Amino acid sequence: MSDWIDVIEKDRLAPGEHAVAEIDGVEVAVFNLNGAYYAIEDVCTHDGAEIASGELDGDEIVCPRHGSRFCIRNGKVLTPPAYEDIVCFPVRVKGAMIQVRDDRWD
Ligand code: FES
Repeated sequence: MSDWIDVIEKDRLAPGEHAVAEIDGVEVAVFNLNGAYYAIEDVCTHDGAEIASGELDGDEIVCPRHGSRFCIRNGKVLTPPAYEDIVCFPVRVKGAMIQVRDDRWD
């Protein structure tokens, strides 16, 4: 089973903000959505754009390259041209830290 990895102290991630961290070679974007934390891979499934640099609209992130929308709660693709979901990772708060785990190969 993969380990939980520290991403950022929760006090440093205000609502509406995000942080990106590398976890086992994967770029992961962690979002604070009104005090709840969500993590998705920082890669658009359409053409590889860094999705976290797009505009956040509620619980949707808009790809900065071609405009596909994804739900940050679960990585689900919502509009084309992308048609595949983004990988979503489990998140927890341990002490002062927000942690993420890549559980795909557990
Ligand atoms: S790279 Fe994201 S919609 Fe094309």
